[in-house]
Amino acid sequence: MEGKRMTDIRRPENMERITTPELAQAFIDEQVKLLREQIGSDKVLLALSGGVDSSVVATLLIKAVGDQLVAVHVNHGLLRKGEPEQVQRVFRDEMKANLIYVDAVDRFLDKLAGVSDPEQKRMIIGGEFIEVFAEEARKLDGIKFLAQGTIWPDILESEKGIKAHHNAGGLPEDLRFELVEPVRILFKDEVRAVGSALGLPDSMVYRQPFPGPGLGVRCPGAITKDRLEAVREADAILREEFAKNGLEGKVWQYFTVVPDFKSTGIKDGERCFEWPVIIRAVNTRDAMTATVENVPFELMQHITQRIITEVKGVNRVLYDFTPKPTATIEYE
Ligand code: XMP
Repeated sequence: MEGKRMTDIRRPENMERITTPELAQAFIDEQVKLLREQIGSDKVLLALSGGVDSSVVATLLIKAVGDQLVAVHVNHGLLRKGEPEQVQRVFRDEMKANLIYVDAVDRFLDKLAGVSDPEQKRMIIGGEFIEVFAEEARKLDGIKFLAQGTIWPDILESEKGIKAHHNAGGLPEDLRFELVEPVRILFKDEVRAVGSALGLPDSMVYRQPFPGPGLGVRCPGAITKDRLEAVREADAILREEFAKNGLEGKVWQYFTVVPDFKSTGIKDGERCFEWPVIIRAVNTRDAMTATVENVPFELMQHITQRIITEVKGVNRVLYDFTPKPTATIEYE
Protein backbone atom coordinates (compact mmCIF):
# COMPACT_ATOMS: atom_id res chain seq x y z
CA MET A 1 0.00 0.00 0.00
CA GLU A 2 2.94 2.34 -0.49
CA GLY A 3 2.38 5.67 -2.15
CA LYS A 4 -0.92 6.35 -0.37
CA ARG A 5 -1.78 10.04 -0.21
CA MET A 6 -1.83 10.06 3.59
CA THR A 7 1.84 9.19 3.76
CA ASP A 8 2.78 12.05 1.45
CA ILE A 9 1.59 14.68 3.89
CA ARG A 10 4.33 17.18 4.73
CA ARG A 11 4.68 19.79 7.42
CA PRO A 12 3.64 23.13 5.90
CA GLU A 13 6.60 25.56 5.71
CA ASN A 14 4.70 28.22 7.63
CA MET A 15 3.11 25.97 10.24
CA GLU A 16 3.03 27.62 13.66
CA ARG A 17 4.92 25.67 16.32
CA ILE A 18 2.45 24.04 18.72
CA THR A 19 3.54 25.57 22.02
CA THR A 20 0.28 26.28 23.84
CA PRO A 21 -2.66 24.16 25.03
CA GLU A 22 -4.91 26.12 22.63
CA LEU A 23 -2.78 25.24 19.60
CA ALA A 24 -2.57 21.63 20.80
CA GLN A 25 -6.35 21.48 21.13
CA ALA A 26 -6.80 22.88 17.62
CA PHE A 27 -4.45 20.20 16.28
CA ILE A 28 -6.35 17.50 18.19
CA ASP A 29 -9.73 18.65 16.85
CA GLU A 30 -8.43 18.71 13.30
CA GLN A 31 -6.75 15.30 13.56
CA VAL A 32 -9.79 13.66 15.12
CA LYS A 33 -11.83 14.88 12.15
CA LEU A 34 -9.22 13.69 9.63
CA LEU A 35 -8.83 10.32 11.33
CA ARG A 36 -12.59 9.76 11.24
CA GLU A 37 -12.65 10.63 7.54
CA GLN A 38 -9.72 8.35 6.74
CA ILE A 39 -10.74 5.38 8.85
CA GLY A 40 -14.50 5.40 8.49
CA SER A 41 -15.86 2.27 10.14
CA ASP A 42 -12.71 0.18 9.61
CA LYS A 43 -10.26 -1.15 12.20
CA VAL A 44 -6.81 0.21 13.00
CA LEU A 45 -3.92 -1.67 14.54
CA LEU A 46 -1.22 0.01 16.64
CA ALA A 47 1.92 -1.23 18.34
CA LEU A 48 1.74 0.64 21.64
CA SER A 49 5.11 0.77 23.37
CA GLY A 50 4.13 3.28 26.03
CA GLY A 51 6.57 5.84 24.63
CA VAL A 52 5.24 9.34 24.08
CA ASP A 53 4.73 9.06 20.30
CA SER A 54 2.75 5.82 20.25
CA SER A 55 0.82 6.87 23.38
CA VAL A 56 -0.26 10.12 21.76
CA VAL A 57 -1.25 8.28 18.58
CA ALA A 58 -3.26 5.76 20.62
CA THR A 59 -5.07 8.53 22.51
CA LEU A 60 -5.92 10.44 19.33
CA LEU A 61 -7.29 7.25 17.80
CA ILE A 62 -9.33 6.37 20.88
CA LYS A 63 -10.84 9.86 20.70
CA ALA A 64 -11.51 9.55 17.00
CA VAL A 65 -12.65 5.95 16.50
CA GLY A 66 -12.89 4.41 19.99
CA ASP A 67 -12.82 0.63 19.93
CA GLN A 68 -12.07 0.43 16.20
CA LEU A 69 -8.52 0.84 17.46
CA VAL A 70 -6.79 -2.39 18.44
CA ALA A 71 -3.65 -1.54 20.39
CA VAL A 72 -1.05 -4.25 20.96
CA HIS A 73 1.45 -3.86 23.78
CA VAL A 74 4.30 -6.33 23.52
CA ASN A 75 6.22 -6.81 26.74
CA HIS A 76 9.60 -8.02 25.51
CA GLY A 77 11.01 -8.19 29.01
CA LEU A 78 13.36 -5.27 28.37
CA LEU A 79 11.05 -2.52 29.59
CA ARG A 80 11.66 -0.42 32.68
CA LYS A 81 10.07 -1.23 36.01
CA GLY A 82 6.36 -0.41 36.01
CA GLU A 83 6.05 0.36 32.30
CA PRO A 84 3.88 -2.56 31.14
CA GLU A 85 1.62 -1.96 34.15
CA GLN A 86 1.34 1.75 33.35
CA VAL A 87 0.38 1.09 29.73
CA GLN A 88 -2.38 -1.26 30.84
CA ARG A 89 -3.60 1.07 33.59
CA VAL A 90 -3.73 4.18 31.42
CA PHE A 91 -5.07 2.67 28.22
CA ARG A 92 -7.18 -0.29 29.26
CA ASP A 93 -8.43 0.75 32.71
CA GLU A 94 -8.71 4.50 32.27
CA MET A 95 -9.28 5.06 28.55
CA LYS A 96 -11.14 1.79 28.01
CA ALA A 97 -9.03 1.04 24.95
CA ASN A 98 -9.19 -2.22 23.09
CA LEU A 99 -5.74 -3.31 24.31
CA ILE A 100 -4.06 -6.64 23.71
CA TYR A 101 -1.24 -7.26 26.17
CA VAL A 102 1.31 -9.81 25.02
CA ASP A 103 3.65 -11.26 27.61
CA ALA A 104 6.58 -12.27 25.38
CA VAL A 105 9.22 -12.02 28.12
CA ASP A 106 10.40 -15.63 28.08
CA ARG A 107 10.27 -15.79 24.31
CA PHE A 108 12.65 -12.84 23.93
CA LEU A 109 14.97 -13.96 26.70
CA ASP A 110 15.18 -17.45 25.20
CA LYS A 111 16.12 -16.03 21.80
CA LEU A 112 18.70 -13.75 23.38
CA ALA A 113 20.27 -16.39 25.60
CA GLY A 114 24.01 -16.58 25.05
CA VAL A 115 24.04 -13.83 22.40
CA SER A 116 26.71 -11.27 23.23
CA ASP A 117 27.22 -9.35 19.99
CA PRO A 118 25.42 -5.96 20.26
CA GLU A 119 24.24 -5.83 16.65
CA GLN A 120 22.99 -9.38 16.77
CA LYS A 121 21.11 -8.60 20.00
CA ARG A 122 19.45 -5.58 18.33
CA MET A 123 18.51 -7.67 15.28
CA ILE A 124 16.99 -10.40 17.42
CA ILE A 125 14.98 -7.91 19.48
CA GLY A 126 13.73 -6.04 16.38
CA GLY A 127 13.00 -9.22 14.41
CA GLU A 128 11.23 -10.95 17.26
CA PHE A 129 9.16 -7.85 17.90
CA ILE A 130 7.88 -7.85 14.32
CA GLU A 131 7.16 -11.56 14.59
CA VAL A 132 5.16 -11.29 17.81
CA PHE A 133 3.27 -8.30 16.47
CA ALA A 134 2.55 -10.06 13.16
CA GLU A 135 1.24 -13.13 15.01
CA GLU A 136 -1.19 -10.95 16.93
CA ALA A 137 -2.22 -9.13 13.74
CA ARG A 138 -3.01 -12.45 11.99
CA LYS A 139 -5.35 -13.42 14.82
CA LEU A 140 -7.46 -10.35 14.11
CA ASP A 141 -10.12 -9.93 11.43
CA GLY A 142 -10.87 -6.92 9.33
CA ILE A 143 -7.87 -4.72 10.06
CA LYS A 144 -7.41 -2.18 7.30
CA PHE A 145 -5.02 0.34 8.82
CA LEU A 146 -1.74 0.35 10.71
CA ALA A 147 -1.12 3.40 12.90
CA GLN A 148 2.43 4.53 13.55
CA GLY A 149 4.00 7.13 15.79
CA THR A 150 6.21 8.52 13.03
CA ILE A 151 7.21 12.13 13.75
CA TRP A 152 8.61 14.87 11.51
CA PRO A 153 12.31 14.44 12.44
CA ASP A 154 11.97 10.72 11.53
CA ILE A 155 10.89 11.70 8.05
CA LEU A 156 13.61 14.34 7.67
CA GLU A 157 16.27 11.91 8.89
CA SER A 158 15.20 9.14 6.55
CA GLU A 159 15.17 11.59 3.67
CA LYS A 160 18.69 12.71 4.51
CA GLY A 161 19.71 9.09 4.75
CA ILE A 162 20.78 9.44 8.39
CA LYS A 163 18.65 6.57 9.57
CA ALA A 164 15.97 4.35 8.22
CA HIS A 165 12.75 4.49 10.18
CA HIS A 166 10.74 1.37 10.12
CA ASN A 167 8.70 1.54 13.32
CA ALA A 168 6.36 -1.42 12.84
CA GLY A 169 6.51 -0.97 9.06
CA GLY A 170 8.70 -4.00 8.48
CA LEU A 171 5.70 -6.31 8.60
CA PRO A 172 5.53 -9.33 6.26
CA GLU A 173 3.84 -9.19 2.83
CA ASP A 174 0.46 -10.52 3.99
CA LEU A 175 0.16 -7.72 6.53
CA ARG A 176 0.55 -4.65 4.38
CA PHE A 177 -1.93 -2.24 5.89
CA GLU A 178 -2.66 1.32 4.89
CA LEU A 179 -0.73 3.70 7.15
CA VAL A 180 -2.21 6.16 9.62
CA GLU A 181 0.34 8.63 10.96
CA PRO A 182 -1.45 11.37 12.85
CA VAL A 183 1.65 13.00 14.38
CA ARG A 184 3.90 12.80 11.31
CA ILE A 185 4.15 16.58 10.89
CA LEU A 186 5.00 17.26 14.54
CA PHE A 187 8.30 17.84 16.28
CA LYS A 188 8.85 16.03 19.57
CA ASP A 189 8.03 19.03 21.77
CA GLU A 190 4.76 19.41 19.86
CA VAL A 191 3.90 15.75 20.39
CA ARG A 192 4.40 16.37 24.11
CA ALA A 193 2.17 19.48 24.02
CA VAL A 194 -0.53 17.43 22.29
CA GLY A 195 -0.06 14.58 24.80
CA SER A 196 -0.56 16.98 27.71
CA ALA A 197 -3.65 18.48 26.11
CA LEU A 198 -5.01 14.96 25.65
CA GLY A 199 -4.64 14.41 29.39
CA LEU A 200 -1.86 11.81 29.32
CA PRO A 201 0.12 11.59 32.60
CA ASP A 202 3.32 13.66 32.81
CA SER A 203 5.30 10.48 33.41
CA MET A 204 4.37 9.40 29.89
CA VAL A 205 4.46 12.80 28.19
CA TYR A 206 7.83 13.88 29.59
CA ARG A 207 9.48 10.47 29.61
CA GLN A 208 13.18 10.52 28.84
CA PRO A 209 14.25 8.89 25.58
CA PHE A 210 14.37 5.11 25.78
CA PRO A 211 15.90 2.92 23.06
CA GLY A 212 13.76 0.40 21.21
CA PRO A 213 15.96 -2.52 22.37
CA GLY A 214 15.30 -1.23 25.89
CA LEU A 215 17.27 -2.49 28.84
CA GLY A 216 18.85 -5.02 26.47
CA VAL A 217 21.53 -2.47 25.51
CA ARG A 218 22.12 -1.67 29.18
CA CYS A 219 22.89 -5.26 30.00
CA PRO A 220 26.06 -5.49 27.85
CA GLY A 221 27.04 -8.88 26.53
CA ALA A 222 24.79 -11.92 26.85
CA ILE A 223 21.63 -11.01 28.77
CA THR A 224 20.71 -13.08 31.79
CA LYS A 225 17.52 -12.81 33.82
CA ASP A 226 19.25 -11.91 37.05
CA ARG A 227 21.54 -9.26 35.56
CA LEU A 228 18.57 -7.76 33.68
CA GLU A 229 16.67 -7.64 36.95
CA ALA A 230 19.62 -5.81 38.56
CA VAL A 231 19.59 -3.20 35.74
CA ARG A 232 15.84 -2.75 36.11
CA GLU A 233 15.88 -2.38 39.90
CA ALA A 234 18.87 -0.01 39.91
CA ASP A 235 17.24 2.07 37.14
CA ALA A 236 14.03 2.34 39.18
CA ILE A 237 16.01 3.60 42.20
CA LEU A 238 17.89 6.13 40.07
CA ARG A 239 14.68 7.44 38.50
CA GLU A 240 12.94 7.64 41.88
CA GLU A 241 15.84 9.59 43.43
CA PHE A 242 16.22 11.94 40.46
CA ALA A 243 12.49 12.68 40.63
CA LYS A 244 12.60 13.29 44.38
CA ASN A 245 15.59 15.58 44.06
CA GLY A 246 14.41 17.82 41.23
CA LEU A 247 16.60 16.31 38.51
CA GLU A 248 13.83 14.56 36.58
CA GLY A 249 12.95 17.38 34.20
CA LYS A 250 16.47 18.81 34.24
CA VAL A 251 18.70 15.96 33.10
CA TRP A 252 18.12 14.79 29.53
CA GLN A 253 18.80 11.09 29.99
CA TYR A 254 19.89 8.98 32.95
CA PHE A 255 20.05 5.27 33.44
CA THR A 256 22.00 2.37 34.84
CA VAL A 257 24.09 -0.32 33.20
CA VAL A 258 25.19 -3.63 34.70
CA PRO A 259 28.27 -4.91 32.86
CA ASP A 260 29.09 -8.56 32.59
CA PHE A 261 31.88 -8.78 35.14
CA LYS A 262 32.14 -9.24 38.86
CA SER A 263 34.48 -7.91 41.48
CA THR A 264 35.32 -8.78 45.04
CA GLY A 265 33.56 -7.05 47.91
CA ILE A 266 32.37 -7.59 51.47
CA LYS A 267 28.80 -8.02 52.64
CA ASP A 268 27.87 -8.86 56.25
CA GLY A 269 31.54 -9.51 57.00
CA GLU A 270 31.83 -12.10 54.25
CA ARG A 271 33.56 -11.99 50.89
CA CYS A 272 31.19 -11.50 47.97
CA PHE A 273 31.79 -11.56 44.23
CA GLU A 274 29.17 -9.44 42.48
CA TRP A 275 28.43 -6.98 39.64
CA PRO A 276 28.91 -3.23 39.64
CA VAL A 277 26.14 -0.83 38.62
CA ILE A 278 27.26 2.02 36.35
CA ILE A 279 25.25 5.23 36.51
CA ARG A 280 25.09 7.46 33.42
CA ALA A 281 23.44 10.91 33.41
CA VAL A 282 23.87 13.14 30.36
CA ASN A 283 22.62 16.31 28.76
CA THR A 284 22.36 16.98 25.05
CA ARG A 285 20.33 18.87 22.47
CA ASP A 286 20.30 16.37 19.65
CA ALA A 287 22.01 13.24 21.06
CA MET A 288 24.91 13.70 18.61
CA THR A 289 27.13 15.00 21.42
CA ALA A 290 26.50 14.89 25.15
CA THR A 291 27.94 16.28 28.36
CA VAL A 292 27.88 14.63 31.76
CA GLU A 293 25.57 15.94 34.50
CA ASN A 294 27.22 17.20 37.66
CA VAL A 295 25.10 15.24 40.15
CA PRO A 296 25.52 16.45 43.76
CA PHE A 297 27.96 14.19 45.59
CA GLU A 298 25.65 13.63 48.57
CA LEU A 299 22.88 12.47 46.24
CA MET A 300 25.29 10.06 44.52
CA GLN A 301 26.25 8.68 47.92
CA HIS A 302 22.59 8.20 48.82
CA ILE A 303 21.78 6.49 45.50
CA THR A 304 24.85 4.28 45.90
CA GLN A 305 23.75 3.26 49.39
CA ARG A 306 20.30 2.35 48.15
CA ILE A 307 21.58 0.37 45.17
CA ILE A 308 24.10 -1.68 47.14
CA THR A 309 21.55 -2.53 49.81
CA GLU A 310 18.43 -2.98 47.65
CA VAL A 311 19.67 -4.51 44.40
CA LYS A 312 20.47 -8.20 44.47
CA GLY A 313 23.88 -9.25 43.18
CA VAL A 314 25.48 -5.80 43.24
CA ASN A 315 28.38 -4.69 45.43
CA ARG A 316 29.70 -1.53 43.73
CA VAL A 317 28.39 1.64 42.08
CA LEU A 318 30.38 3.58 39.49
CA TYR A 319 29.68 6.89 37.73
CA ASP A 320 30.41 7.33 34.05
CA PHE A 321 32.21 10.67 33.56
CA THR A 322 32.64 10.32 29.80
CA PRO A 323 31.15 12.81 27.34
CA LYS A 324 29.99 11.86 23.84
CA PRO A 325 32.35 11.64 22.04
CA THR A 326 34.29 9.56 22.89
CA ALA A 327 31.59 7.48 24.53
CA THR A 328 28.14 7.05 22.99
CA ILE A 329 25.22 7.60 25.34
CA GLU A 330 24.25 3.93 25.46
CA TYR A 331 26.75 1.12 26.02
CA GLU A 332 25.88 -0.98 22.99
P1 XMP B 1 23.93 6.74 21.39
O1 XMP B 1 24.15 5.56 22.27
O2 XMP B 1 24.03 6.43 19.93
O3 XMP B 1 22.42 7.18 21.66
O4 XMP B 1 24.79 7.92 21.78
C1 XMP B 1 21.84 8.37 21.20
C2 XMP B 1 20.38 8.38 21.60
O5 XMP B 1 19.65 7.38 20.87
C3 XMP B 1 19.08 6.43 21.76
N1 XMP B 1 19.28 5.10 21.17
C4 XMP B 1 18.35 4.36 20.55
N2 XMP B 1 17.06 4.59 20.35
N3 XMP B 1 16.85 2.50 19.26
C5 XMP B 1 16.30 3.66 19.69
O6 XMP B 1 15.09 3.83 19.52
C6 XMP B 1 18.15 2.20 19.42
O7 XMP B 1 18.61 1.14 19.02
C7 XMP B 1 18.94 3.19 20.11
N4 XMP B 1 20.23 3.24 20.45
C8 XMP B 1 20.42 4.42 21.09
C9 XMP B 1 19.83 6.57 23.07
O8 XMP B 1 19.06 6.17 24.17
C10 XMP B 1 20.14 8.04 23.07
O9 XMP B 1 19.04 8.80 23.54
